[in-house]
Amino acid sequence: MQKKWWQKATAYQIYPKSFLDTNGDGIGDLRGVLCKLDYLQQLGINLVWLSPIYCSPLADQGYDISDYYRIDPRFGTMDDFDELLAEAKKRGIGIVMDLVVNHCSDEHEWFRRACEAPDGRYGKFFYIEDYDGQHLPCNWRSYFGGSVWEPLPGHPDKVYLHSFHKKQPDLNWENPDLREEIYRMMNWWLDKGVAGFRIDAIINIKKALPFRDYPASRADGLCDMGEMLAQAHGIGDFLAEMQRRTFAPHDAFSVGEVFNSHAEDLPAFIGEHGYFSSMFDFSAILCGKNRDGWYACAPTVSGEEYKRSCFASQKMAAHVGYLSNIIENHDGPRGVSHYLPASEHAEAAKKMLGGLSFLLAGIPFLYEGQELGMENTVFENPEDIDDISTRDEYKVALAAGLSPEAALRAVAPFSRDNARTPMQWTAGKNAGFTDGTPWLAPNPNYPRLNAAEQLARADSVLAFYRRLTALRRSEAYADTLAYGDCIPWLPEQKNLMAYLRRGSGKTLLIVGNFQPAPQAAALPGAARIVLDNDLPVTLSGGKISLLGWQFAVLEISES
Ligand code: GLC
Repeated sequence: MQKKWWQKATAYQIYPKSFLDTNGDGIGDLRGVLCKLDYLQQLGINLVWLSPIYCSPLADQGYDISDYYRIDPRFGTMDDFDELLAEAKKRGIGIVMDLVVNHCSDEHEWFRRACEAPDGRYGKFFYIEDYDGQHLPCNWRSYFGGSVWEPLPGHPDKVYLHSFHKKQPDLNWENPDLREEIYRMMNWWLDKGVAGFRIDAIINIKKALPFRDYPASRADGLCDMGEMLAQAHGIGDFLAEMQRRTFAPHDAFSVGEVFNSHAEDLPAFIGEHGYFSSMFDFSAILCGKNRDGWYACAPTVSGEEYKRSCFASQKMAAHVGYLSNIIENHDGPRGVSHYLPASEHAEAAKKMLGGLSFLLAGIPFLYEGQELGMENTVFENPEDIDDISTRDEYKVALAAGLSPEAALRAVAPFSRDNARTPMQWTAGKNAGFTDGTPWLAPNPNYPRLNAAEQLARADSVLAFYRRLTALRRSEAYADTLAYGDCIPWLPEQKNLMAYLRRGSGKTLLIVGNFQPAPQAAALPGAARIVLDNDLPVTLSGGKISLLGWQFAVLEISES
């Protein structure tokens, strides 16, 4: 595959609302990000993805955009943004914006004008259908609960489609006029100097038309969006056009949020001339999912499931393109709480999980606080829930017959609020996130778990992530890690996750013991320790003896 500038990158996602508040309003801001650029540089980051900072009523925390060309005053000004872009550039960091174009906000001018004249230019930017008061155009269930159809304000005889919240009307991608507006906007940001985009919910832009019902999946008589998406063909035309008109001329980085990926589609999506540079690997997060709702899902994923998912994705993408590897993002639980047993939140296990994910073939994305080993938060009562999706799932759990206590317990492990609690900078007031009242309460564990404490300690989770990023940049191994193959090692050995990264004349073995009990693993050749998770590594007789949750990177001399 052709070499591209982003193939060696280490990326970091910032959820601006929760990162650092510099003006005391309880909401993180761009000046907060500016303050922490040195921290990010020292962490070895060279791409920063900012979750949405555009003008928004924040019904879905910025994923409901009311003006694509302006910064929401709560986050700062365009001057702050320009300063951020310039200061990041000085530190070798590119800024990746969030591109939310499946829908906009119902407060966007386009939608207001569509309400004024549903048959006019802007009405055609949305999916607006006639409504006789009884029969909706179809029975699709929105991702945040209830029908995808909502009465069009001011027009009782019309409804509009929203795949997500009713304040997020879907944009009609079949309309070339709309597509032109989107490309114009993307090029405006790219011309400004952003490094690229993370592309939100993109798989939803193609609808199976004409609208029709699918078999209901729950007692509400509605069907999952997935049913419809499986029948929606032709998204490639839109994505190829987007690529040609925006990313390609700017040599931009693009990473898609693609949930329903199939091996046969991968070359078109992320191959040499794919629509995107990369797409996230969500396979592990999808383990244990149940269509009935979060309450019916398995609250944690075992090491064996995690390993199998990662290896299956790696196999699918091998010699095709670059996946982006994550253990968490702003849409779910903290990785350490989801992939490690509740009793094992010790730092060694957190480092092991982070190391195993980080060194897979592809682009590592860290999510803010992951580098500290931040954990899921505590929900005492339903009023503690902020996120619209969690609130809906709580109702689903109640409707399924769970008691209020059981419903809260069942949905808490999946809540998107887990990842959205404020970044834990210090042991001081509000974890050092704000002098004011934080929009979401910090995780009560911040007095012991925070960046200040970890910066002062050589064996902290943070120090470990710094060593990982340094390894990825190192002259000795950068090529192997960016371009080398990923080959599972002893994949059948239970609770052992090991793989080789082989390339450019060098071979690394990455190995983690996914259990509290020790175990030994055979080595493929003579080995030398390159990196560990601060537990003493024992190599002898062609084997590595691993303590519980031990992690090591070894250079292998293959004969
Ligand atoms: C994506 C975002 C999520 C948002 C949804 C609707 O999945 O990551 O936060 O709620 O799209 O925009």
